[in-house]
Amino acid sequence: MFPSVKQSKMAATKGFPLILVLSSLIIGLSQGQSTIPVVPGLSYTFYSSSCPGLDFIIRGHLWQIFQSDLTQAAGLLRLHFHDCFVQGCDGSVLLDGSASGPSEKEAPPNLTLRAQAFKIINDLRALVHQQCGRVVSCADITALAARESVFLAGGPFYWVPLGRRDGLNFATLSDTLANLPPPSFNTGQLLDSLANKKLNATDLVALSGGHTIGISHCTSFTDRLYPTQDPTMAQTFANNLKVTCPTATTNATTNLDIRTPNVFDNKYYIDLMNRQGLFTSDQDLYTDSRTKDIVTSFALNQNLFFQKFIDAMVKMGQLNVLTGTQGEIRANCSVRNANSNLHLKSVVEIDQEQQTLSQF
Ligand code: HEM
Ligand SMILES: *[C@@H]1O[C@H](CO)[C@@H](O)[C@H](O)[C@H]1NC(C)=O
Ligand SMILES: *[C@@H]1O[C@H](CO)[C@@H](O)[C@H](O)[C@H]1NC(C)=O
Ligand SMILES: *[C@@H]1O[C@H](CO)[C@@H](O)[C@H](O)[C@H]1NC(C)=O
Ligand SMILES: *[C@@H]1O[C@H](CO)[C@@H](O)[C@H](O)[C@H]1NC(C)=O
Repeated sequence: MFPSVKQSKMAATKGFPLILVLSSLIIGLSQGQSTIPVVPGLSYTFYSSSCPGLDFIIRGHLWQIFQSDLTQAAGLLRLHFHDCFVQGCDGSVLLDGSASGPSEKEAPPNLTLRAQAFKIINDLRALVHQQCGRVVSCADITALAARESVFLAGGPFYWVPLGRRDGLNFATLSDTLANLPPPSFNTGQLLDSLANKKLNATDLVALSGGHTIGISHCTSFTDRLYPTQDPTMAQTFANNLKVTCPTATTNATTNLDIRTPNVFDNKYYIDLMNRQGLFTSDQDLYTDSRTKDIVTSFALNQNLFFQKFIDAMVKMGQLNVLTGTQGEIRANCSVRNANSNLHLKSVVEIDQEQQTLSQF
């Protein structure tokens, strides 16, 4: 049994101490335990003696933030996805200079990661390090913040394998472009892109369910409106989008899930079945025969979606992680530690990685 939407909504409307009591009760009763193998070096109990209060510190702080602005949950979930897809879940997205991070503006996914999400992660890092010392990585804090975002927005709770270390290198523009699929991708292109990361069709459909919360800028989908309207888009839905985005480059945003924009549920799949998916990458999941039945099964059964989402998040959350003595535990999530220069990868190594990537 997973905590139902009702239970976690209830938790989100009562007083602060109550949520801690309630959440531990709900979590204690629920499973949220994926059977996906844990990679060597990570474990579910990694901080149980070095930082036993970790989950509560993060949940408590995020709960306070979400009280006034639940939309921040989407920003934090997406941040973890970008971290993991580009160069592995190593906190690289958080570094100043990362092409999908806070200070690089040239990459197409530029500026659409919320500035606030980076600040929240650094604030969480300060709280955690204050209580436990510098033992918890920024990459783990990002993974846990994504988990709490899903849970506090009404989604399932799940346990996160921990022990990630923070990388020393920021992600380059070509890393970012090669690894983050654009919203214009069709299902075939998405499946190819995710296969590089050992993620399959079930994972693709489940992870895309992250679009059950959050917003998008017009520029991410107006290619489906202008100059020619995508015939797979429902007419009323398209008309409304044209009001929000009167030109292809209007600087405005719209919700990703038109039914329940701030609740983590399976309504995104109902949207797709009604041709109300915002991106080609969303809507084509219901067109392509390899994913259509998976979409339908999630639309009909929210628990099934939650289970597959948990598995896919645990898989995604372990992509190319650094463990043991690799990398470092950053003292400030935005910058490498001062003494870590010696471990910097050479430019030659980075070039080789990019060549490898571009062969996919
Ligand atoms: C499968 C390929 C994916 C594509 C092509 C894609 C594309 C996008 C795009 C274009 C946006 C809107 C950006 C903007 O214009 O502001 C967006 C937002 C978002 N994405 Fe994805 N995404 C993908 C996968 C994921 C995954 C795996 C997750 C998490 C599990 C995720 C979670 C989100 C969230 C929560 C938002 C809203 C962010 C906010 O409100 O600030 N996406 N995505
Ligand atoms: C984002 O990147 C695109 C090109 O990839 C560029 O045209 C646009 O100006 C950039 N936006 C910002 C706000 O930097
Ligand atoms: C994808 O992989 C999971 C295991 O991680 C498996 O349960 C599922 O059946 C696979 N789906 C497809 C479509 O192969
Ligand atoms: C878009 O609008 C927002 C809020 O109105 C503003 O902060 C931002 O700078 C604008 N972005 C661009 C690229 O004009
Ligand atoms: C972290 O580093 C950034 C970039 O150098 C800096 O602006 C910020 O003040 C630092 N934060 C803390 C808490 O030291």
